[in-house]
Amino acid sequence: MEAKFVKSSTTLEQCPPANKPEYAFIGRSNVGKSSLINALVGQKGLAKTSQTPGKTQHINHFLVENTWYLVDLPGYGYAKVSQKEREHWEKMIKNYLLKRENLLCTLALIDLRLPPQANDIEFLLWLGQNTLPFVIVFTKADKLSHLQQAKQENLYKEELLQYFETFPRYFVTSAEKKQGLEELKLFLYELNQN
Ligand code: GTP
Ligand code: MG
Repeated sequence: MEAKFVKSSTTLEQCPPANKPEYAFIGRSNVGKSSLINALVGQKGLAKTSQTPGKTQHINHFLVENTWYLVDLPGYGYAKVSQKEREHWEKMIKNYLLKRENLLCTLALIDLRLPPQANDIEFLLWLGQNTLPFVIVFTKADKLSHLQQAKQENLYKEELLQYFETFPRYFVTSAEKKQGLEELKLFLYELNQN
């Protein structure tokens, strides 16, 4: 897919005009948001990635095929940030998610290797409570065998079905091995056309 970087914003007001369909990538620091964006569009260095959590600090807009936006967001849950920074993150991101008019769907990324984490579940619940459309995108599946992947999926199902009536739509992906990317792309294209 043809994609280019458009803008890095620190507030909703600074974001590009809300005149194209938009998808936001959210999740814990280091979960692989920036890597997934790069893998989806097939451009390695487009969104900046790092082994060190906390790489993405702003709301970054990428324009895809001149028709829709992918948005790379800073991650949450990084232990080394101060309480003040954490509050700043929450305010910035939640304000963006609640008020961005062209936001079609949020992609909530979760590291498939980890057992369900309280902050991920809290965030999904927050999306649900605010009736924001979202899907779950499990990342780093290449680090697990197929059996382990299936076990982890079940673990999340059990956990989340305590809170949600039905399990949210989800994708199992690897940016590294390109697993699940075609399925995810198709989903984005289809939403775009509605
Ligand atoms: P922040 O911007 O800090 O919030 O992180 P992020 O969620 O954007 O993560 P990023 O894409 O920078 O990736 C973090 C680390 O995970 C990097 O070292 C990536 O190479 C690695 N990584 C990302 N996706 C995958 C994947 O699918 N498989 C494997 N094995 N590693 C991955
Ligand atoms: Mg990032």
